[in-house]
Amino acid sequence: MDSGYPAPFDAVAAVYDRQFTDTTIGRVQRELVWEQLEGWFGAGDRVLELGCGTGEDAVWMAGRGIEVVATDASGAMLVQAEAKARAAGVLEKVRFERLDLARAEEQMPPDGVPFDGALSNFGALNCVADRRALGRALAGWVRPGGIVVLVVMGRLCAWEIAWFLVRLRPRTAFRRFRQGRAAGIGEGCSVPVWYPGPMQVRRDLGPEFKCLHTRAVGALVPSPDLAPLLGGRRRLLAGLARLERPLAPALVWLADHYLICFERRDHA
Ligand SMILES: C[S@@+](CC[C@H](N)C(=O)[O-])C[C@H]1O[C@@H](n2cnc3c(N)ncnc32)[C@H](O)[C@@H]1O
Repeated sequence: MDSGYPAPFDAVAAVYDRQFTDTTIGRVQRELVWEQLEGWFGAGDRVLELGCGTGEDAVWMAGRGIEVVATDASGAMLVQAEAKARAAGVLEKVRFERLDLARAEEQMPPDGVPFDGALSNFGALNCVADRRALGRALAGWVRPGGIVVLVVMGRLCAWEIAWFLVRLRPRTAFRRFRQGRAAGIGEGCSVPVWYPGPMQVRRDLGPEFKCLHTRAVGALVPSPDLAPLLGGRRRLLAGLARLERPLAPALVWLADHYLICFERRDHA
């Protein structure tokens, strides 16, 4: 696939899986998301993925019989994702498209046919300054009754704050309070990042979407910053995930990410 114009995440596409997806903490956090997705999307559904990165979720959904149109602003991420789908033997279930969420309203959904659902996992939404335009676009892209699942980086990540305070790095500890400031994404690159809370995301998506539920992802399970301390402790991380599951709805405000799920309203 042609990379086309450069995007900030192009520079980290080749190392993203090593730095996050394939780490123990990354795996445990993603499992928590997949457990939720199993309840919302099933075989035969058509799902639009936004900010798909290296395609980990697209491949997982395709393996469950879901038709996926996986999109990202980064051509290099899409190259990685397509290679992963080919290696997994699910290429006939996934189509990859360039889609910039910052210009969502100018773009039609691939096919022009509304989707049964949409997913954006692990912070793609945090890279978008104006999410209201995205909400308006999603209202056209997802059919009435369809489900939108967004996994967003929260502002107050308890693990991260504690970790950096103990290491006497208060600016880093509270970095998520600085909206739109450049955040490092690896390989010496940074992008501007926003940390909207669940109430803000509800307002941003607009009146066409009804919020069904919100839950923490990575509240007791730590953020990837803790990898040097806890990254190798598989049993401990599995235990923290077990503890987190029942508490997740109450821990939304303290987590690395939160998952927020919407239904596209049906006005008929
Ligand atoms: C932290 S990664 C998450 C990737 C993937 N969803 C996952 O779960 O691993 C954020 C992704 O959002 C994409 N992204 C950032 N800004 C974007 C934009 N304006 N439009 C579309 N994708 C964007 C990046 O290219 C990157 O692949």
